Amino acid sequence: MDHETGKIKKQVREKAKAVARKIDRPVVVVGMPGSGKSRIGRMLAQALGFPLRDTDQEIESAAGCSVAEIFERFGEKAFRDSEIRVMRRILSDSAPCIVATGGGTLMNEGVADLVRERAFSLWLRAEPELILSRTAQQGGRPLLAGDNPEKILRDLMERRYPVYAGADLAIDVRDVPAEQTLYEVLEKLDACFV
Ligand code: S3P
Repeated sequence: MDHETGKIKKQVREKAKAVARKIDRPVVVVGMPGSGKSRIGRMLAQALGFPLRDTDQEIESAAGCSVAEIFERFGEKAFRDSEIRVMRRILSDSAPCIVATGGGTLMNEGVADLVRERAFSLWLRAEPELILSRTAQQGGRPLLAGDNPEKILRDLMERRYPVYAGADLAIDVRDVPAEQTLYEVLEKLDACFV
């Protein structure tokens, strides 16, 4: 581990200790596919010592197949209904945890209200170019499987950004090491919770 990496890891540990004492409810991570919800969510949960709830993963283990297979076999509506059920189940408990959502979770009827009532929301806001380059490298996203993923993404962003913008906190995600984004998230959370 180089000096810089060691330094930021130490800063993360120290900041996380202070933040973990203050957070009093679930933190729901929202944003477009490729914005880093699962990765940053997992790192945040680990740093804070909170359980991680990942909506896609919970849906997959209940269905016994991947999100892509659920879309293919049962259709998008069935997937969206599962997202609503999973979010209701997770947020029925007010204990602190980190919830990594799918890009469309917050768009389902009633979910944004539920999150506003029961949780703290964190939007990982990324520029279209970053999202496009990341999602082009990763597979497994049935929604982006069409002929023109760029157009699909831009249309989704247009509809989703006004909803994501209702989040309690927005972090601008750049192409920097994840530890750096994590530290920024912790600093901002520290300022949001008294
Ligand atoms: C979706 C995003 C995916 C997954 C599903 C639908 C969306 O999660 O929930 O394929 O509607 O944007 P990620 O945001 O983790 O890719």
